[in-house]
Amino acid sequence: MIYLKTPEEIRLVEAASDLTSRTLGEVARWIEPGVTTRKLDTIAREFIQDNGGRPACLGYQGFPGTLCIEVNDVVVHGFPSNYELRDGDIVGTDLVVELNGYMGDSCYTFPVGEVDEKTLALCRTAKESLYEGIAAAKAGKRTGDIANAVQTYCARRGYSVVREMCGHGIGRDMHEDPEVPNCGRRGIGAVLRNGMCICIEPMINMGSRNIAIDRDGWTCRTRDHKPSAHYEHTIAIVDDQARVLTTFDYISEALKDRFI
Ligand code: MF3
Ligand code: CO
Repeated sequence: MIYLKTPEEIRLVEAASDLTSRTLGEVARWIEPGVTTRKLDTIAREFIQDNGGRPACLGYQGFPGTLCIEVNDVVVHGFPSNYELRDGDIVGTDLVVELNGYMGDSCYTFPVGEVDEKTLALCRTAKESLYEGIAAAKAGKRTGDIANAVQTYCARRGYSVVREMCGHGIGRDMHEDPEVPNCGRRGIGAVLRNGMCICIEPMINMGSRNIAIDRDGWTCRTRDHKPSAHYEHTIAIVDDQARVLTTFDYISEALKDRFI
């Protein structure tokens, strides 16, 4: 069941999305070799709580963090831990914030220190594919048009797209209908309509698309242990167009010339 949002509800998703983005901007300031992923998680949780929000992943089906932490071969749903980031790592931080009963959801993959060109290119392509997906999101188009835009962009550049994990609708719940895949044919899937709020979140692999879940039941990795990059925005369909409700601007401000 797809819940279309009123303009007032879209404003509430936008407010939650802005806090989500500002939190990732705070996290960005701490990305450097030697910092533990648990430290990043604490920074995020305290910032959200200081700003009247609730970290929506924390405790969700037993998930133990505010952030999902995605180091190198981790695709999604990694736990914050005492792992210290190393020079040359990439780390994704995926975050859902609830504010006044509505959710915002965003993810950014950061290079740590000096990252090799090949891995940086993976990150750039993954981020660009998110904007390709957003460009395909218009009223009257379908989720398959988003999926096909993402997949085509990545496949042309020699990367593979994870199929098992998808974007989703968002609102009062973190995951609402429709499912928003990153792979598939044009012209299939749910029709996009004004008032829909959805998350687009490509997960792009350097090697094969295959994944496996660790014995903790959560951490999802590439089977070949090659790196994976993940970027996500929350958008609303307004006046037939995509309005992007989360932003990487706070991250860009924090990282300055280190922003890729
Ligand atoms: N942020 C993820 C998403 O984009 C969901 C996190 S799963 C959780 O859908 F269990 F950690 F909450
Ligand atoms: Co999401």
